[in-house]
Amino acid sequence: MSAGPLTEVIAASGAAVERAARVLAAGGLVAFPTETVYGLGADATNGEAVARLYDAKGRPTFNPLIAHVADAAAARALARFDGAAARLAEAFWPGPLTLVLPKRPDCPVAELATAGLDTIAVRVPDHPVAHAILAAFARPVVAPSANRSGHVSPTTAAHVLADLRGRIELIIDGGPAPMGLESTIVACLGDPLLLRPGALPRAEIERVIPLTEPPRAAAPSGLDAAPIAPGQLASHYAPRARLRLDARSLNAGEALLAFGPSLPAGAERATRVLNLSPRGDLIEAAANLFSHLRALDSSGILAIAVMPIPHTGLGEAINDRLERAAAPR
Ligand code: TXA
Ligand code: MG
Repeated sequence: MSAGPLTEVIAASGAAVERAARVLAAGGLVAFPTETVYGLGADATNGEAVARLYDAKGRPTFNPLIAHVADAAAARALARFDGAAARLAEAFWPGPLTLVLPKRPDCPVAELATAGLDTIAVRVPDHPVAHAILAAFARPVVAPSANRSGHVSPTTAAHVLADLRGRIELIIDGGPAPMGLESTIVACLGDPLLLRPGALPRAEIERVIPLTEPPRAAAPSGLDAAPIAPGQLASHYAPRARLRLDARSLNAGEALLAFGPSLPAGAERATRVLNLSPRGDLIEAAANLFSHLRALDSSGILAIAVMPIPHTGLGEAINDRLERAAAPR
């Protein structure tokens, strides 16, 4: 972020909640307390707001985010619930449980927020301030923990300020987060799977449904019990088409994923051209990354040439995702 925003800290109140909803609606970033940890919120339906959120956190990669909503009915507008998911939502929402579910085709959440996946993580927090903001805003809010990438999750407004001052618009101070530990994540995409242990104990969940063991990270022998790290929970978006990165000219039959105002030699031969950001803006490019890839990939195109993208700012995360999407399978 270049000239960063002034970060305002205000105590939770009715007026603060309305202010938070207005800042979110304008595409701004608002940190607020939940019962687990402080979250850094952005309008989940606004791709550029979501891109600014990744930029503020300094994440070197686009991990999918949790969509927070005010109640289970709002969650059902985003995702499909099977029987197990419905029982878990009934038993534990509002509360410190995140469900990873199939994304509905009409889900309004920006592709960047789910990192191009067909699944979405949803949660209904049990905190009066979080609930009031979500009810006032009346749209899903993506909220990773409100810390810089690589730092621990914040449990007070002061922690958030120390990490994100000058990078976000607003912090709502609602006192210490009561649980101090992130939500438990369960995927209901088949046999329910514990993806991340957290504030809701596994035994509580198993009183409602049986849980499958989490997959183990590939690790050297002897270390094979290492749990998968948060952030590596989700597999990544993989197009069917072949991607050729850092393309400075076009080959026959290729579509072009462009960046910036000047196109490479042979661009007029491209079967189709989509530009991540004609003005060369990395926030706009991040917001368009997964939707443009999907659009090119769904039109029967077999090869996509991708123009070079700078590695500065969000460019690091954009290049990371493009490299994964280009990796041979
Ligand atoms: O308690 C919490 O869950 C806090 C508060 C603010 O709600 N949020 C939080 O978000 O911990 P975050 O972004 O720090 O962690 C979310 C985790 C990430 O490890 C991400 O990979 C995983 O959820 N995740 C999100 N969407 C997913 C998906 N579709 N499939 C698998 N994992 C997913
Ligand atoms: Mg986190």
